[in-house]
Amino acid sequence: MNNILMRLKKNNILRNMCVETTFLKDQLIQPIFVSENVNEKKNIPGIPNNYVMNIKDSLTQIENDLKDKCRNYLIFIVPSNKKEIDFNLDFQQKAISKIKETFKDEIFLWADVCLCSMTSHGHCCVFDKNKNIDLKSSLSYLSKVAVSYAEAGIDGISPSDMMDGRTYAIRKALDNINYNLIPIMSYSTKFASNFYGPFRYAADSTPAFGDRKQYQLDFRNKSEAIRASVRCYNEGADFLMVKPGQGSIDLIEPIKKKTGLMVGAYQVSGEYAGITLAAEKKLFNLDEALLESWHVMKRAGAQFIITYGARKSKDLGISE
Ligand code: PBG
Repeated sequence: MNNILMRLKKNNILRNMCVETTFLKDQLIQPIFVSENVNEKKNIPGIPNNYVMNIKDSLTQIENDLKDKCRNYLIFIVPSNKKEIDFNLDFQQKAISKIKETFKDEIFLWADVCLCSMTSHGHCCVFDKNKNIDLKSSLSYLSKVAVSYAEAGIDGISPSDMMDGRTYAIRKALDNINYNLIPIMSYSTKFASNFYGPFRYAADSTPAFGDRKQYQLDFRNKSEAIRASVRCYNEGADFLMVKPGQGSIDLIEPIKKKTGLMVGAYQVSGEYAGITLAAEKKLFNLDEALLESWHVMKRAGAQFIITYGARKSKDLGISE
C-alpha cells in the first residue's frame, strides 16, 4: 500500500527529520510598552507576561528577557501629554536613549512610529479644521517622530499609521540627515481590525470618535491589501508586514511574489488574547497552541513574527 504519510511519522526523530518550518529566536519580535503615565507595572488584559511600564522597569524587563536570549524588540511609547499638533517628543527620546545606552547592540530595538499615542483624539493622524485627515502635516509629523527616534539611537523604524506616503516621507527624512542605514519595517498591510482591543488599552490609543476605517484596510478586500504592501515597497520599505497576522496568512505569499521583500506577520493583541484566555479556561495547552500558531504563520511564508510570547519562546524549545 502506498500509505507514505504514515510511514514518515513513526517517531519523533523521523518526524523531526521531516520538519519544513523552523525558526530562530531572533525571528520573534517582542513588543514592549513604555509609558509616562505609570509608576507601577500595569498588566494588560489577555496578554500575560506583558506590561505597561515606566522606563526603569522596562530596563529590568529587558535584562531578564536577555537571560532567555530574547533580543529583538518593538517598542511602543506612550507620553502623558496628548495634543492635537506640535507633539512633544522628550519622553519618547528619553525612553529610547536610556534603553539603547543600557543594552547597546545586545538588543535590536524597533520603534512603532504612529501618532495615536500622542494625539488627544487617539487617531493615527492630524486633522485639518474641517476634521478631514490632513495628510501633508500627518506625514510631516510622522517624519519628525522618526527622525527624533533616530537621533535617540533607535535601530529600526516601524510605521503603523497607514497614511499613504509615510514610508517615502520617513525614508527621505532619515536619508537627509544621514540615517540611511536605519531599516524601515512598514506595517504595510494593516486592516481595520477588531483584534487590536487589548493593545489600545495598553497604548492608551482608543480613538475618541469614529474608527480607523478611513485609513486602515477593509478586511473584505484582498487585492487592495496586496496593493497596500506594494505601495510601501515602492516607497522604499525594507521589510513588509501583515496585520493581524493570523488573520492575514493568505496575503503573505502574494505580497512576497509581487515585491521580493521579506514579509512578517504581527500576531496582534486580540489574537494572542484569544489563545491565552482559552488556555486559561483549560480548553487547550497554552504553549502548544502558541507554537502551532507561530508555525502556521511561518508555513504561510512569514519571515518574522511579532508576538507577545517572544519572551517565553525558550520555554517552547525554540533555538537561538
Ligand atoms: C498603532 C498600532 C496599533 C497596533 C500596533 N500599532 C493599533 C491600531 O492601529 O489601532 C495593534 C497591535 C496589537 O493589537 O497587538 N497604530
